[in-house]
Amino acid sequence: MNEKIPDWKSEFPISQADTTDVTRRQFAKFLCLVSGGLATGSAFVAVKSALFSEKKVIGTHRVCSKDELPVGGTRAFVLEGSSTPYILIHLENGEFKAYEQKCTHLSCAVFYKPGTGKIECPCHNGWFDAMTGEVVQGPPPRPLPRLEVQVKGNDIFVTGA
Ligand code: FES
Repeated sequence: MNEKIPDWKSEFPISQADTTDVTRRQFAKFLCLVSGGLATGSAFVAVKSALFSEKKVIGTHRVCSKDELPVGGTRAFVLEGSSTPYILIHLENGEFKAYEQKCTHLSCAVFYKPGTGKIECPCHNGWFDAMTGEVVQGPPPRPLPRLEVQVKGNDIFVTGA
């Protein structure tokens, strides 16, 4: 039987029995291939983030009416022209606060815990102060990015930074 050997196998002719017979040249080839792959992947991610970075949303946007958000309630929203998720919170003291809903640690979604005055990130037990967005506990390195909230009549607006 004359089996055709694939090209890649001729470049890396290592069989189970020969695993201890890898030459320095073969090992160097393998390292170059892996390093090249990692470098290409990193370059792709860097170029993609530079070319398609999130646009900053500027201006004032209506989120909802006050009637739609009871005390202790939250409303998730995105601003027109952006895909960044935000959360609007009606705190127990009557104030409205709006923050980016992505944790500053590894971007998990954060949630307001009613009655505690805190915003929780369930991924690694991170906590933020719902009044200020500052980190209270856990691994998040920075406060949650905040939007300015204005209440005009019965409507709630946020202003993009
Ligand atoms: S992603 Fe939020 S604490 Fe890790």
